[in-house]
Amino acid sequence: MESGREEWRSKTGFVLAAAGSAIGLGNIWRFPYVAADNGGALFVLIYLGFVFLIGLPLMLSELTLGRKTLKNPFGAFQSITPNTPWRFVGILGILTGVGILSFYGVIAGWTVGYIYKAITGQFTNVSDPSQFAVIFGNFTGNPLVTILLFGSFITLTVFVVTGGIAKGIERWTRVLMPILFVILILLVIRSLTLGEGVGKGLSFYLNPNFADLKAGTVMQALGQALFSLSLGMGTMITYGSYISKKENLVSSAVSVVSFDTMIALVAGLAVFPALFALGMDPGTGGPGLVFVILPSIFDQIPGGLVFGTGFFILLSIAALTSTVSLLEVAVAYLIDEKKMSRKIAAISTGAITFIVGIPSALSQGASDFFGNIPFFHIDFLSFMNNAFGNFALIFGGFFISLYVGWRWGISKASEEIAIGSERFGYRKMWSFTLRFMAPLCIVSTFLYILITGNFF
Ligand code: PHE
Repeated sequence: MESGREEWRSKTGFVLAAAGSAIGLGNIWRFPYVAADNGGALFVLIYLGFVFLIGLPLMLSELTLGRKTLKNPFGAFQSITPNTPWRFVGILGILTGVGILSFYGVIAGWTVGYIYKAITGQFTNVSDPSQFAVIFGNFTGNPLVTILLFGSFITLTVFVVTGGIAKGIERWTRVLMPILFVILILLVIRSLTLGEGVGKGLSFYLNPNFADLKAGTVMQALGQALFSLSLGMGTMITYGSYISKKENLVSSAVSVVSFDTMIALVAGLAVFPALFALGMDPGTGGPGLVFVILPSIFDQIPGGLVFGTGFFILLSIAALTSTVSLLEVAVAYLIDEKKMSRKIAAISTGAITFIVGIPSALSQGASDFFGNIPFFHIDFLSFMNNAFGNFALIFGGFFISLYVGWRWGISKASEEIAIGSERFGYRKMWSFTLRFMAPLCIVSTFLYILITGNFF
């Protein structure tokens, strides 16, 4: 610890914490519903392509930038190229963190609310599966409850972030994520045995139809790849700044990307067969999709009350390890650059995020205005989800890949990567994807969208 900066306690500690940031509502809530909205299998295929072509190289780049500079995103750009416009990429990342947290915290609040619903038996013996949509609608339509849950979740996040890195975050992820995975597998098994409709669901999810290709789908798939991996806003720069020089960055990046992608794919496997077995139309679920589908699977499982409760508890924790990483970016910035104390930084950023998030909390049934905002004609939460969870991350990812590929440069970055990994075997491939593939994919996606005018 020659730098005096806190470090992760161990290699598994770091990989688990980074995986904790990556694995969250993005995999279990966002992936299935965005896939459903975008026609299923083709979206999934494009998403997987982006995960490996853009996500993996970018993951390695962000971790490397962080470990080299030992800084938050703003400070990282500042310390390699002082006072150049690159620092605005860092600033954008910090703002994006607040933007994402403001709606993510709302969904996280829902998961906490669903713990209560599960434990009080509201999901068992529901006569008609369509009831689950009604239960969900009544729940998100209640302004007081959603805002309170959202506020409590932000408070909890502030609390963990105030505790510091090693003590606060690492502890949570170690045991709990494997249990979440086990329950997911159980859901998959039940979902696959629901009978009629399962085959249709699997085909919707796994059998791509290339005629469905739309510009919007490509953009959503790119946004989802970055969102799910916590890339494009400097989360992994910040987390990388806490990794010790002994660690192998390449294998860390590969593990985080594979864990995260596996969980998303498994979540889809739980959702889609059930969705069709219940006779629902995939395009109509929206942000509520998994809150309707998953409880209805639990209703069909012996011991559903226990598993359902366990699942929503674990999902809340998975969300917490992600919200912590979203808040940590701004907090690390305020500590490093503005010399604020960790506590003040966490509390003030949390308070701002809470205020920014109120319209999102109200947008799912509590307020007509925020349910359909002028000009965009979508609800406020979906707007924030698109603006920050897709556009801002894609924008950020574009500049980070250019920065590491061309400005800071492959050879300098490789020197940092070589520390802790004797042999950097994929250097050529990494350099190619980072310098050419990632920026070109991103630019062509944007052009495609501009030409077709298909933004959301
Ligand atoms: N990757 C997290 C998830 O999938 C969300 C997230 C996005 C976290 C960006 C940090 C930064 O739930």
